[in-house]
Amino acid sequence: MQLSSALASGALLSATALAANSTSSVPSSCSIKSGASVTAQADLDKYAGCQTLVGDLTISGQSLTGSAALANVQEIDGSLSVNNATKLQSFSADKLSKISGSLEMKYLTLLESASFGSLQEVDSIEFLTLPAISSISTNLKTVNQLLVSDTNLESIDGFNNLEEVSVFNVNNNKGLTQINSQLQSVSDALQIGYNGNDADIKFDSLVWANNITVSNVSSVSFNKLQSVNASLGFIENSIESLNISRLGSVGGTLSIVGNDDLTEVLFTNLTEIGGALLIANNTDLVQIEGFKNLKTVGSALNVIGNFSDLDLSSLKSVKGGCDVETKSSNYTCDGLKKLQKNNGIQGDAFVCKNGATSTSIKLSSTSGASTASGSSSSGSSGSSSATATSSSSSKSKAAAAGQVVPASSFMGAVAAVAVALL
Ligand SMILES: *[C@@H]1O[C@H](CO)[C@@H](O)[C@H](O)[C@H]1NC(C)=O
Ligand SMILES: *[C@@H]1O[C@H](CO)[C@@H](O)[C@H](O)[C@H]1NC(C)=O
Ligand SMILES: *[C@@H]1O[C@H](CO)[C@@H](O)[C@H](O)[C@H]1NC(C)=O
Ligand SMILES: *[C@@H]1O[C@H](CO)[C@@H](O)[C@H](O)[C@H]1NC(C)=O
Ligand SMILES: *[C@@H]1O[C@H](CO)[C@@H](O)[C@H](O)[C@H]1NC(C)=O
Ligand SMILES: *[C@@H]1O[C@H](CO)[C@@H](O)[C@H](O)[C@H]1NC(C)=O
Ligand SMILES: *[C@@H]1O[C@H](CO)[C@@H](O)[C@H](O)[C@H]1NC(C)=O
Ligand SMILES: *[C@@H]1O[C@H](CO)[C@@H](O)[C@H](O)[C@H]1NC(C)=O
Ligand SMILES: *[C@@H]1O[C@H](CO)[C@@H](O)[C@H](O)[C@H]1NC(C)=O
Ligand SMILES: *[C@@H]1O[C@H](CO)[C@@H](O)[C@H](O)[C@H]1NC(C)=O
Repeated sequence: MQLSSALASGALLSATALAANSTSSVPSSCSIKSGASVTAQADLDKYAGCQTLVGDLTISGQSLTGSAALANVQEIDGSLSVNNATKLQSFSADKLSKISGSLEMKYLTLLESASFGSLQEVDSIEFLTLPAISSISTNLKTVNQLLVSDTNLESIDGFNNLEEVSVFNVNNNKGLTQINSQLQSVSDALQIGYNGNDADIKFDSLVWANNITVSNVSSVSFNKLQSVNASLGFIENSIESLNISRLGSVGGTLSIVGNDDLTEVLFTNLTEIGGALLIANNTDLVQIEGFKNLKTVGSALNVIGNFSDLDLSSLKSVKGGCDVETKSSNYTCDGLKKLQKNNGIQGDAFVCKNGATSTSIKLSSTSGASTASGSSSSGSSGSSSATATSSSSSKSKAAAAGQVVPASSFMGAVAAVAVALL
């Protein structure tokens, strides 16, 4: 086996393309010299007699116009890259069933369609900057890493039948308004963001993922999701209801930030967060009752907003500090102060503020001494707006049923949030 170098560039981490050498039966005319590049259909025609191509095939350049096809090749023992052929309008390789390395299509300004009608297995796929493309057909069953970014695709149905991947990253595809995926696990990263403004995403077979980040979608459905090994983030979406009610644990940080339309969060089975819990800038989130079974938070507890209810009634341990701030005077800090007094909050900082009072303690390194100041003698706690409750539950049904809800949130810097979590 040898490492291919054809993947050196690209936003997706270059996967290692494995060029096997058990192919001594392949005629030398079907073996591609490294560094060779195809610039005309006539060059592709030279491979018409090849069932298997060995090596990395790069198709590039301005002289390819109209359509190009790789006619009879069934397998590429190496990678296939079509890039910078800015006059190419369509590409097909309909006999091709397997690419051992990567399939890249990048910077193809006029490309309207690509067809890989038999393609079942590829190590990694990178579709990047395809502003004219409306359809890609495949029959894919096995892909390790998938990146689809900055395309005009309205559907990624060709990728919906994948069941296991390491990376699934679909971002900045302005025409893409829905994803309905059969994925069962994502061993590295699931990232969805900045697609069509009303994008509606369903991952109802997904049981676990290493980490998940979702931005700029209007509804999500993760009906089977049980665990996230690392971080889980919902950043600047127009989601109204977040119902991830089977999720039992998040190994890293759970962030719910900048979701302006969010009125309901249901993480009712969640008992354990290995990192921080960050809930901030969700302007309409008045009642936060979906964390009532949460027992441990492995890092900081940060909840900032206008909430009048925050039910953390099972919380036993917060390993980091606590910063809970709300404008509402209906929220009472009593529960958290009690937890802090009992050493349930182990970090140095303890801040709890509501519209009426504020409690701030900076403990010295000899922790334990809790001199909580500020009595929260605020108004009657617990009660909250009945209208908000009923409208949120009807919205949540719409979201759970997968209807598209118009979006109106703003894109944001996920990276900035990640920094804020440190
Ligand atoms: C395949 O590669 C291995 C290691 O690079 C080498 O030892 C072996 O001779 C090669 N086999 C053929 C058939 O080329
Ligand atoms: C293709 O175009 C991109 C963007 O314009 C550029 O960064 C890259 O170097 C080009 N690659 C080749 C092989 O010409
Ligand atoms: C997701 O996990 C991968 C691999 O562990 C890591 O490289 C990446 O930074 C993670 N992304 C986020 C947003 O946590
Ligand atoms: C939340 O989702 C679960 C399925 O995962 C469903 O049974 C439940 O009814 C939903 N709850 C609400 C309030 O929509
Ligand atoms: C993540 O969690 C799943 C389910 O608990 C487990 O099968 C998998 O091995 C874990 N993956 C990593 C990278 O820890
Ligand atoms: C709740 O989470 C636990 C893991 O903590 C899991 O075993 C259990 O099946 C989940 N329950 C539901 C109803 O999804
Ligand atoms: C919340 O919004 C404010 C103002 O836009 C910003 O300064 C702050 O960083 C945001 N908080 C988070 C956690 O994103
Ligand atoms: C609180 O609500 C007001 C108005 O509804 C909004 O402008 C403000 O950004 C909200 N603050 C937070 C922290 O969500
Ligand atoms: C706070 O409580 C008062 C008295 O019960 C109630 O009238 C008001 O609507 C509550 N405010 C919020 C934001 O829940
Ligand atoms: C995110 O959504 C908002 C409104 O829904 C939109 O204005 C913004 O352009 C989107 N961001 C991106 C990068 O698509």
